Amino acid sequence: MKTYSYKHPKVLSLINAIPEAAGKAKAMNLPYWILAQKSHPFGVVIVGQEPQQLTAPRGTPIALVALEPSQASSENLSDFISTATKLVTEKNLANALVTLSFKHRRAVMQFQQAGFEPFDDYYLMYRELSQHWTPTIGLQFKPIKLRETREWFMVATRYLAGTADTALNHGLQYMLDLPDTFLTRYHASEKLYFVVRGETTIGVLDIHGTNGWIGNMAVNPLSRRQGYGKQILTFALNQLKTRGCSQAGLRVHVNNKPACQLYDSFGFKKTARFKRLLWWNPTYAAS
Ligand SMILES: CC(C)(COP(=O)(O)OP(=O)(O)OC[C@H]1O[C@@H](n2cnc3c(N)ncnc32)[C@H](O)[C@@H]1OP(=O)(O)O)[C@@H](O)C(=O)NCCC(=O)NCCS
Repeated sequence: MKTYSYKHPKVLSLINAIPEAAGKAKAMNLPYWILAQKSHPFGVVIVGQEPQQLTAPRGTPIALVALEPSQASSENLSDFISTATKLVTEKNLANALVTLSFKHRRAVMQFQQAGFEPFDDYYLMYRELSQHWTPTIGLQFKPIKLRETREWFMVATRYLAGTADTALNHGLQYMLDLPDTFLTRYHASEKLYFVVRGETTIGVLDIHGTNGWIGNMAVNPLSRRQGYGKQILTFALNQLKTRGCSQAGLRVHVNNKPACQLYDSFGFKKTARFKRLLWWNPTYAAS
């Protein structure tokens, strides 16, 4: 299998055969390499630095492997995996993360056989936004200004801790050390809120107003099971509807029972399940 840098003249002709993997690479706006066997592309390796996936401290060089779904059952998948890890090793990157559909069990198994370890297991859930939800508890949703973004992350880190979401738990340790550039970018793309009852902050929320995405929601551990989670979700759904979204989507770890149950009770349906697997480069040396 050959690797083609994003600058290679052949890249444009290869990219059409792997629209999903190429779309990821382009959306991330990072350097990438296409892996192809005799002009037949399998996927890409995208190269960046943390914070991208919150797998390692900021500045750590990392890779994201995007396998084109149509190639998941290919007989030559092991060649793709070994070429990807070779590239990661040559570039002295610390790790490589791959996201695979739960349906592609054989591919999941092959990545694991090659040394990738289970990192995450999540559902995508969606529901239509056809109705308006009526709040029943008087909560304030305080929009976060740019200068308050770091404080929001500090509070969110406390409120999001301790769930069964293993990838989130891993990432939380890096959330207090996010660079200003990340915070500025995040604040520009998300709507962040503190959720306040009286004088007390009881929760956090972030939604993406244009693509109908609920990024994070959490209730202070001391204030749980008092109906606040339902109120936060009510607000999030109404906001997304008001902003013109026709549906709301989110990701939730398959073992996060409280959250899964909350979303189920609001009519969210599981539309897909994904596994993320992480490979640590044994020869990585921080410079
Ligand atoms: C999920 C979370 C936001 C729920 O907040 P909450 O204020 O406790 O939720 P509510 O009191 O409004 O409960 C709403 C529903 O959630 C479900 N739920 C909440 N806690 C639950 C638990 N411990 N076990 C099972 N179901 C639970 C129930 O369906 C509940 O409805 P019910 O009380 O009528 O049975 C809260 O547990 C939390 O902050 N968890 C950590 C962060 C997190 O996981 N966020 C979601 C990331 S995708």
